[in-house]
Amino acid sequence: MEKYVYGHPFDTQAVVNDVDAMPGQVPIGVSAINDHVFTFDYVMDAEDIVYGLGEQVRGINKRGWEYISWATDEPHHHEDKRSLYSAHNFLIVSGKKTFGLFVDYPGRVRFDIGYTHSDVLHIECEADLKLYYFEGEDVLDISRQFRHAIGKSYVAPKFAFGYGQSRWGYKTQQDFKKVVESFESLRIPLDLLYMDIDYMQDYKDFTLNEKEFEPDFQEFVDWMKEHKVHLVPIIDAGVKMQDGYCVYEEGKKNNYFCKLEDHTTDFIGAVWPGYSMMPDFLNDQARNWFGMKYETLTKYGIDAFWNDMNEPALFYSRYGIDWLNGKLKEFLANEKNEVPYFKLGMEVESLKNSMDDYRRFYHNTNQGWVRHDKVHNLYGCSMTRSASEAFETLRPGKRTLMFSRSSYIGMHRYGGIWTGDNKSWWSHLDLIVHQLPAINMAGFLYTGPDLGGFGEDTTRDLLMRFLQIGIFTPLMRNHSAIGTREQEPYQFERSEEIARLIRLRYRLIPYLYSEYLKAVENDTLLFKALAFEFKEDVIARSIEDQLLLGDQIMIAPVTRQNEPGRPVYLPEPMTRIVCSEDGIEQTALNAGWHYISYPLDSLVFFVRCSQAVPLGAAVLHIDDVNLETIEWLGDGTEYELYEDDGISANAPITRTVLTR
Ligand code: GLC
Repeated sequence: MEKYVYGHPFDTQAVVNDVDAMPGQVPIGVSAINDHVFTFDYVMDAEDIVYGLGEQVRGINKRGWEYISWATDEPHHHEDKRSLYSAHNFLIVSGKKTFGLFVDYPGRVRFDIGYTHSDVLHIECEADLKLYYFEGEDVLDISRQFRHAIGKSYVAPKFAFGYGQSRWGYKTQQDFKKVVESFESLRIPLDLLYMDIDYMQDYKDFTLNEKEFEPDFQEFVDWMKEHKVHLVPIIDAGVKMQDGYCVYEEGKKNNYFCKLEDHTTDFIGAVWPGYSMMPDFLNDQARNWFGMKYETLTKYGIDAFWNDMNEPALFYSRYGIDWLNGKLKEFLANEKNEVPYFKLGMEVESLKNSMDDYRRFYHNTNQGWVRHDKVHNLYGCSMTRSASEAFETLRPGKRTLMFSRSSYIGMHRYGGIWTGDNKSWWSHLDLIVHQLPAINMAGFLYTGPDLGGFGEDTTRDLLMRFLQIGIFTPLMRNHSAIGTREQEPYQFERSEEIARLIRLRYRLIPYLYSEYLKAVENDTLLFKALAFEFKEDVIARSIEDQLLLGDQIMIAPVTRQNEPGRPVYLPEPMTRIVCSEDGIEQTALNAGWHYISYPLDSLVFFVRCSQAVPLGAAVLHIDDVNLETIEWLGDGTEYELYEDDGISANAPITRTVLTR
């Protein structure tokens, strides 16, 4: 790893195992600085593949599009987008020359990967950055070196591998209890139940709805505990501006909120609670203060959270509204003239996540006052760091489930991420397959999409195809938006078939959790493109819809509606596993192309050549997961199981070789 420093970079703390800066320019491509803009250009070979950029749109191979690192509250993950919620500025060029680059700059970065000129990789940002350059044997080697540099990934508690049910729309205790009872009556495993913004009073962080939850929250949490369910409340970044609300009052008094240019007046944005303040997570005291607020929930025994709206999302701001008011007045004064219908709509829309607002507020950091847009991509990361650091005090020695919507590289040490507001679309099955290896490369191992799709109406078959991927992702959560079709497994006909899929997850947990620990321990990837391992295989290099999971499994999910199967490429001989109502069928297949049937109610995957995967008992809760009697998959003879106690911070890992 080599480091090159340009200008006066903000210290993002992304890299923890650092090196001294090299003199001169990065030894590849052409880098330049003009008018305080840094550019890097590299001419790609026709066969070069570009991997990385973490949570982004488009394919595993990122060539042929322009991506902007700018954490964005973007609920439309269409292929014409350039930014999603996270900023993961790490990529690897694999081909004639294989190398990695990490652009450690927390403001806006443009990656033009053959978009303007099909053979040119062009990177551009303000000229205050650290550029890390990696050379290595191959993609896996470079990715391992990078992961070593950025430090060990967050380790989720084992219960976080259970199935989680969520929906923005559960409001009352009864709504939540009904979910648990329905799962129990159908014998569908359930370990986590998510509480979206309605559990709060008026969407105020660290409050409980006064009528529904405040009076007897402890009893509610205990009831859940008796049913072996962990509640996972949401925490949003914005703090409601309301006199008398203690979080607002404390933050205002102690200058914990982001300020306008005068460094004195609090910036007023707006999110779910209406006008809101933005905690200054980049300020050490403010970060510590906000983190310790999680105690309002940990004191009841809550051990899991999700952090949201932390790009930060701004629906509008006080300044934007003032401006719009002026525009409306202009419009009304001219009402006899042509109606500027489109313009008006665009002006209202422009208030959302506006660049003017992001340039309006400042952070009081230990590196001085910094205008937000220069460090924008660190906001969600710093919010999650705030919680994670506080958990060391609030829940000493214990692991807490924590994942965030927005992130920057470095946040992988504090929590996981989910991939935000996807939709109940078939194309979003492809999207998650494309994202998983890249997200892992950025250090995030605890991750997953909203299963079933968050926005729009799902269908039974789409939910099942989503689950057939989610069975393998560390975070397995079914989540949906208010107003969409309800998508708990029991909302659909023949729910027993859906239940069977979820039960299979629990049989796989010993393996999945072991491979997860292994990836954390060894800085390796849980999900890999086929090309990462089968480097010389030209077909494997082009495959975008199959993934290796851990060292033993390959998945090839069906991502099209009404397709009963699909062509699958085996780069080596493998065992096909079909888990259906009738049990598990294993078939040895030769390397090459096969048409593989993939019935909707079954789980189909592959075990690699000479490998073995231990399946545990079918159980309904994480606590009951066990390998007392093992059903072996694949043609191998042993498996090295990584285990720990699943709950303590820094728990020692034991490795046991299980033999068939
Ligand atoms: C955001 C989140 C989503 C959540 C909603 C309401 O859209 O991404 O998961 O349900 O806000 O809190």
